[in-house]
Amino acid sequence: MIKVYPDFEALSRAAAALFAERACAAASASGRFAVLLAGGKTPARAYALLAIPPLRDAVPWAKVHIFWGDERHVPSDDLASNAGMARQVLLDHVPVPAEQIHPVPCRPTVEESAAEYEATLAAFFGAAAQRFDLAFLGLGEDGHTASLFPGSSALEEQERLVVGVNGTEERLPRVTLTAPLINLAACVAFIVSGRNKAAILREVLEEPAQRPLPARLIRPKEGRLLWLVDRDAAALL
Ligand code: 6PG
Repeated sequence: MIKVYPDFEALSRAAAALFAERACAAASASGRFAVLLAGGKTPARAYALLAIPPLRDAVPWAKVHIFWGDERHVPSDDLASNAGMARQVLLDHVPVPAEQIHPVPCRPTVEESAAEYEATLAAFFGAAAQRFDLAFLGLGEDGHTASLFPGSSALEEQERLVVGVNGTEERLPRVTLTAPLINLAACVAFIVSGRNKAAILREVLEEPAQRPLPARLIRPKEGRLLWLVDRDAAALL
């Protein structure tokens, strides 16, 4: 389902409201809310709106468990850190128990970081399916999502749930959840803003596909797939 909002602020409010709504539903249904946060710039405003009333007071923070769909291979205090951004705009301002915030570790290699995060997820979910209640995702202009980039071997990964992604001249090494894991989520919500994303958004959504794009791998098995976009990003739809 595609929902178009008049501007970035309205889009951010909708994404924040979705977080609050899903958190309440999951907390009352299962006693906890496991959420995958997206990185990049787009979701920051939505996260900031969760840190202030009314939404701050609408979320059962004691039952929230925070994970990331991907992370740059940098220390958490690095400006490029997705976890660092979320802490700055949201997590340092709401009462999520510290032990319920699960950043991707930055070990000497991305493979070590990925293996450790995979173990973190296994420990959290135990024998149950690794089913996030909500997964936020962004969309890159090249059709990537999380750190699943065009041409990456991570796109074919069907066994590993978390993999390392080597850096290039343009981008940092990263750790990413793989599509099969993201697709187990009960609800996946892309948050896409800006005229610069209009062409790729149309291409990702159009059928039949012109070419394989990482974002097209995101097809929740049983969950909902939402595209929360602003009018600029939807300009070519
Ligand atoms: C990251 C993100 C990445 C992001 C897209 C969109 O770590 O960079 O996970 O997938 O969501 O690149 O980024 P913007 O929101 O900054 O456009």
